[in-house]
Amino acid sequence: MKTESLTEPSSSHFSKRARGYNASASWVGDKELIAKMVRAAGPLRGASLLDLAVGTGAVAGAFRGKARLVVGIDICEAMSGRAAGRVDLLVYSSAEKMPFPGGSFDVCTCRQGLQFMDLGKTLAEARRVLKPGGRAVFCHLTSYGGADDRTTFLTQRLRNPARRNFFSPGDLARAAGKVFSRVTSAEYVTRESVGNWIANGAISASARKRIVSVYRDAPAAFKKAHKVEFKNGDIYDSMRMEIITAHV
Ligand SMILES: C[S@@+](CC[C@H](N)C(=O)[O-])C[C@H]1O[C@@H](n2cnc3c(N)ncnc32)[C@H](O)[C@@H]1O
Repeated sequence: MKTESLTEPSSSHFSKRARGYNASASWVGDKELIAKMVRAAGPLRGASLLDLAVGTGAVAGAFRGKARLVVGIDICEAMSGRAAGRVDLLVYSSAEKMPFPGGSFDVCTCRQGLQFMDLGKTLAEARRVLKPGGRAVFCHLTSYGGADDRTTFLTQRLRNPARRNFFSPGDLARAAGKVFSRVTSAEYVTRESVGNWIANGAISASARKRIVSVYRDAPAAFKKAHKVEFKNGDIYDSMRMEIITAHV
């Protein structure tokens, strides 16, 4: 895992992205991916669930009607305001220090949020707010490991200056294993249009141009692992995600 210092606070970055967020990557509304997270969460009947970095509620909304209570927490009001109606309760707070008593929830989920946070603090908080027997499901982009790390992390950093943590395969499972038990992980690959991915409304034209040139000049190992394809004026990238399941 690579950790860098923050160049832009995530609340300011995501305030600029809130309106176009749902269309900013195909994984956001990917039904198959979200269904895998729901299955990984285990039995939901009667359960209380907390979704960290709820964003526009794409993940949390899938648990509504399945879990008894769905709570979303996020640091950016512009994003989480859009989750109203997809959750039972919205809380504006950092997931690094949460305003809930210990043992409040049966399930904790987080997709694509931990890269913006102090990982150790947030995982410890997630563990604290879960009940005995509770489960956590985390889903995040990773590199393929080794040869593509540098280029993957560079494109991720250029695309999102609020990103602090850059994950290689196994990083999240190892970090989760320090506070949770019975940690397992599964791979998921999402095919993205880079043209769409970089039109997120929050980065400069020069950053977008730089990302395109990083793809053009990328090492062969990166292009191979990511199945990079230049087609109809766009670039396509098979991005790797990991779904981590962990138990209290
Ligand atoms: C890439 S979006 C993910 C949204 C949603 N989980 C999804 O999968 O569509 C990242 C979200 O993390 C939130 N975020 C960043 N840092 C946070 C923090 N310290 N505490 C809570 N939320 C945070 C941002 O405001 C943003 O809504």
